[in-house]
Amino acid sequence: MQIDPSKWDILDKAWRDVLEAGGGGDDGRGDGGGGGDDSQGGLPNRWQIEQMLAMAPVQRVLLQMLAIQPGWSILDAGTGFGLLAMELAGQAPLRVTGLDIDEGLLGVARRVGRQLADLGWIDAGASLTFDEGDIYSTPYEDESFDFVVSRLVYQHLTDPHAATDELVRVIRPGGHLCLIDVDDQLSLVYPEPTDAFARLQDAYAAAQSHRGGDRQVGRKLSTYLEDAGLDVALTVVLPQAMHVPATVRDPGVDFGLSRVASVRHQILAEGIMGEAEFDECMELASTEHATSRFTVAAQVVVIGTKPA
Ligand SMILES: C[S@@+](CC[C@H](N)C(=O)[O-])C[C@H]1O[C@@H](n2cnc3c(N)ncnc32)[C@H](O)[C@@H]1O
Repeated sequence: MQIDPSKWDILDKAWRDVLEAGGGGDDGRGDGGGGGDDSQGGLPNRWQIEQMLAMAPVQRVLLQMLAIQPGWSILDAGTGFGLLAMELAGQAPLRVTGLDIDEGLLGVARRVGRQLADLGWIDAGASLTFDEGDIYSTPYEDESFDFVVSRLVYQHLTDPHAATDELVRVIRPGGHLCLIDVDDQLSLVYPEPTDAFARLQDAYAAAQSHRGGDRQVGRKLSTYLEDAGLDVALTVVLPQAMHVPATVRDPGVDFGLSRVASVRHQILAEGIMGEAEFDECMELASTEHATSRFTVAAQVVVIGTKPA
């Protein structure tokens, strides 16, 4: 797929406008993993937009590696705010569908999608639609798609095998499934994060694991493909390294704090941290003295092909 990098500015501006207009963000009840209704009082799951914009430059390198052909029909399963679906529909004549369980996120995705269409930003031969639905029982006929992608979703799933079987069902023979996700052991930061920040990150990981999620899912993705009967065609690690000067606030810290704030209710309800401890760590981590920092975060990308 040929990428025109000059198109990204308009897309990124549309999303920065959403962030600016969106107000305060989470009310502390969302989880980013599906089903969270945190749309009161601001933009739901604001941190997901911050995360996808931060990751976009590296993720867009990946787009060029995917052997997507003009005319294909693509499913982005667990599309969230739909950035990846938009990137595809903006670059090539593709029929792109984003599916998510969270209607709140889809509402924002549809609004931005319409805006991009009005600007003539969506490729003239492309279509972009967003459907509400569950990855375990999608509303599509067998063999409806040439290419299915699911990014940063499997870390939230309690039954990744069942989800993979369902995604394989909707792929045509010879079509492809691409899974992209984190593995926490592929991350590093120097110098070490402050104790307060580390405790909050541990609490976030514990909350995700209590919901049945898995932050070490990256290493398991190729096995899920093979278990579902696909031929594993590609395995790649996409690293993103960043130097943050002491004069600048580390966006990784801000995004990490915003993400952990979104599951505060769960962390307190399950006794993962006490209220006073949580609030003290948030206070300390958000006012920590800036130092320069080097970070690496990586995502595992696997592609499987359905036998013809
Ligand atoms: C961290 S977000 C990733 C969003 C998007 N794929 C991206 O890369 O920006 C995880 C998404 O998975 C969705 N999700 C979680 N469980 C789901 C399920 N069972 N069915 C459909 N979507 C689900 C959530 O609603 C959320 O939007």
